[in-house]
Amino acid sequence: MKRKHSLALAALMGLAMTVTACGSDDGGESAGDGGTSQSGGAEGKIGVILPDTESSVRWESADRPALAEAFEAAGVEYDIQNAEGDAERMTQIADTMIGDGVTVLAIVNLDSESGAAIQEKASSQGVATIDYDRLTLGGSAEYYVSFDNTVVGELQGQGLADCLGEKDANIVYLNGSPTDNNATLFAEGAHSVLDGMSNYKVVGEQAVPDWDNEEAATIFQQLYTAANGKVDGVLAANDGLAGAAIGILEGNGQAGKVPVTGQDATVEGLQNVLAGTQCMTVYKSATQEAEALAEAAIALVNGDEAETTGTTTDSEGGRDVPSILLEPQSITKDNVGDVIEDGGQKAEDVCTGEFEKLCADAGIS
Ligand code: BGC
Repeated sequence: MKRKHSLALAALMGLAMTVTACGSDDGGESAGDGGTSQSGGAEGKIGVILPDTESSVRWESADRPALAEAFEAAGVEYDIQNAEGDAERMTQIADTMIGDGVTVLAIVNLDSESGAAIQEKASSQGVATIDYDRLTLGGSAEYYVSFDNTVVGELQGQGLADCLGEKDANIVYLNGSPTDNNATLFAEGAHSVLDGMSNYKVVGEQAVPDWDNEEAATIFQQLYTAANGKVDGVLAANDGLAGAAIGILEGNGQAGKVPVTGQDATVEGLQNVLAGTQCMTVYKSATQEAEALAEAAIALVNGDEAETTGTTTDSEGGRDVPSILLEPQSITKDNVGDVIEDGGQKAEDVCTGEFEKLCADAGIS
């Protein structure tokens, strides 16, 4: 443990010192959801805790396989678990991982408070931590690996404006979870684009607790009713929330007439974009994000400094967190094929049934 402590300290102090990393004490045993150890690879062991399976399909369908691939390519031992939306469970998984000897722990927090507590405990045990995708406010992560989330919101705002055009329009915002710092950034980014356009009026705005898709449908229905059905555009923070809004619009004969934004380029999101019920989504390559995490984690294991793109201010903790922020891409009907070409989704998953023809029309095969 002592050696590990010096590792985290070195990283904390930003010293580029070479430390012999802890060898695997698992003997390369397959740890739960995929531990691996390849000769010639980096030493140390990386634990990743994903948040849930409900707020977005991305965590299990895109992030997990991309992370496994990145760690395997780097030849580093890893353990990926999912907290199933339960912060206590995330804390327990973190404890177990620390007990199992992970050298670096990456989390996608469920809320900043529980995330910060996990990171504090890890650091007291000499385990370095990384914020994956969501910044833990008041946390102590050595690095933050994500996309530029304000830009994600800006792309959503611009995407909605492009779909609405110059007419007067009533807009409803369906924001992400209030406990997710990203959700704040997405909303800020979207507002920064749309608020300056005087032809648009916000007629409803609400955050969806835990990004819960079912609750999103209830919330959207209420906002829709409160606006007397006079809703011309929906700024939905991700594809799951978009799907919930589209369901309600469908019930009112408005699906396809009212543009809805999204995020994650999920299979359902891309199908909705092709069908015209969703005006856009935002693609954030899981491969890129997972590779960036693997690089940062391996740098920590080796006592090196990772290459960063800048810092992110943690206003609660009053510190600038060294960050690797990647560039998101706006996806409309015209470039759904980009996601497939990039390996973000498979044509065979998107182009099923009624979508076969829509894919063919969009030049996707
Ligand atoms: C992620 C999104 C995701 C949402 C719900 C956010 O923090 O950045 O990609 O859709 O959480 O899981």
